[in-house]
Amino acid sequence: MTDTDTTHWIATVRYADLARRRRTRVELGDRAVALFLVGDRVFAFDDVCVHKGRSLARGVVWQGRVVCPAHQWAFDPETGRAEGRDECQPVHDVRIVDGVVHVDPRPRSHEEI
Ligand code: FES
Repeated sequence: MTDTDTTHWIATVRYADLARRRRTRVELGDRAVALFLVGDRVFAFDDVCVHKGRSLARGVVWQGRVVCPAHQWAFDPETGRAEGRDECQPVHDVRIVDGVVHVDPRPRSHEEI
């Protein structure tokens, strides 16, 4: 895939709106994705937590990690790796185009991370 490959990106929310809310949940077809602002960067996870399926979009960003509201697993926003565990939350590529957050609905394979 190259950076000019635009066919799979899906426009979601305005960056300014995410900046206000810090997190949100979006539907990409049949897939729910949680968007988080960490610093000034946007990260996208599958919304369904790999642990027991709670919505990560109800979580928080704490010390640079996305923390699930259910059992407080902490995920690295870049890789989706759960701190101190073997599990990995699926992550999606994100880019900002004209102030709008675009998300690749296909999770990144962990070999690419
Ligand atoms: S469901 Fe997310 S940490 Fe348990």
